[in-house]
Amino acid sequence: MSDEDKELVSIILPTYNEAENIVSIIESLLKLKDQFELEILVVDDDSPDGTGDLVKSLSRKIPEVRLIRRMGRAGLASAIKEGLLDAAGDLALVMDSDGQHDPAAVTLTLNTLIKGSFDLIVGSRFHAEAEIKGLSSRREQGSSLANAIARYSLNKSYSRLTDTMSGFFALRLDRAMPFVRAVDVNGFKFLYELLAISKGNLNVSEVPLTFKPRTHGNSKLDIAIFWDFLISVLHNLTFRLLPRRAISFGLVGTSGVFVQLVVNQVLMVIGGINFEQALPIAVITAASSNYMINNTLTFRFQRLKGTALFKGLLKFLIVASLPVLANVGVASAFHRFVSTDLITAQLAGILVVFIWNYAASSRFVWNTP
Ligand code: GDD
Ligand code: MN
Repeated sequence: MSDEDKELVSIILPTYNEAENIVSIIESLLKLKDQFELEILVVDDDSPDGTGDLVKSLSRKIPEVRLIRRMGRAGLASAIKEGLLDAAGDLALVMDSDGQHDPAAVTLTLNTLIKGSFDLIVGSRFHAEAEIKGLSSRREQGSSLANAIARYSLNKSYSRLTDTMSGFFALRLDRAMPFVRAVDVNGFKFLYELLAISKGNLNVSEVPLTFKPRTHGNSKLDIAIFWDFLISVLHNLTFRLLPRRAISFGLVGTSGVFVQLVVNQVLMVIGGINFEQALPIAVITAASSNYMINNTLTFRFQRLKGTALFKGLLKFLIVASLPVLANVGVASAFHRFVSTDLITAQLAGILVVFIWNYAASSRFVWNTP
C-alpha cells in the first residue's frame, strides 16, 4: 500500500500513572505503521509516576508520538474529549494504556470502520466472540448489569450494542465531532455519553474485544465513578433537563432524609430522650452526612480538605438552616393560596429549599457557580 492510500488515524491513549505500561503499548501500536498513517496522542493528567516525562522523551525520537499534559487530575472522560478535539486524523481510536486492550484488535476495528459505512465502531467485551479475562467476576456482573440499564436508557437504534461502557472505540471525526464537543466530561463513561447525546444519529457497529488483565498497576475505577454512572443514567432518563450535579445533590439529600429518621428513632428508643430533644441532633447529623457525601461525590473536583473541610461544614449548616424559614413560609403560602392539600404544600416548600440549598451551597461552600 502506498503512503497516499493510508488513512491518517489518531490513537488516543489516556494515562494516569501508567509509566510501567505506556512504552510497551506505544511500541506495539507503532507496528501498525505499515497499515495506517499514525498519530499517537497520549493525554496525561500530570501523573506523579512520571508517565508524562517518559512520553515526552519518546516524542523526541518518534515523530508519531505526541504528548498532551494537563494540569492535575481532570478525569478519564475529559482526557478522551481533549484527545479527540486535538486529533489530526480523519479517524480516531481510543483505548486504555494499561495493556487491558489488545493492540491486535486495532486493525479489525479500523478496517471495519473504513470499509463499512459506519461512524463509530465499539470494541465489545460482551460480544459473543470476545473473552473477559481482566475483570473479577463481581465486576463483570456489575458491568453487565450497568450495560443492561444503559441499553434501556439509550436510543433504540443502539439497542443491539452489547458494551456501551467500553473504553475501546474508533470513530469518524467529521461525523462524530458535534457530539464529541457536547459530551459532558464529568461522567467517566465517555462512550455512553457520546451515544446518549447522539440519540441514534451515528451509524454504530461493534467488534469483539478481548479484555486482558492489567499488565502493571491498579484500576482507577472507584465508588465515585460508579456514582457518576448512576447520575448519567438518571440524567438521561430525565431527558437531560436537570444539571447532573443537581441530580447528585438531590440523591444525597434523599439519603439525608433516611439518616434523619433513623438517628431520631435510635436516639428516642435507645437513648431514651424525647422527640424535641432528639430532633435537632438528628437534623444536624443528617445535614453533616449530606455535606460529607456531597464533598466526596457531587463536588469531588472541588473537594474540601483539612480545615477547609471543617469551615465548609459550618457554612453548609448555615446555608441549610436559612431556608427552614422559607420552607415554612412557602408551604403555608402554598397552602393558603394555591392548594389546600397538605402534602402538595409541603412538597412545594421542600422544592424551594432544595433549589436554595443546591444553588447556595454550590456557590458559597464549594465555590462553583
Ligand atoms: N488522563 C487520565 N486521567 N487517564 C485516566 C484517568 C484520569 O483521571 N483515570 C484513568 N485513566 C486511564 C488509565 O491510565 C488507563 O489507561 C485507562 O484510562 C483506563 O483506566 P483504568 O483505571 O485501567 O480503568 P478500568 O480498567 O478499571 O476500566 C475499564 O473498563 C471500563 C468499563 O468497565 C476501562 O476500559 C474503562 O474505559 C471502561 O469504561
Ligand atoms: Mn484498566
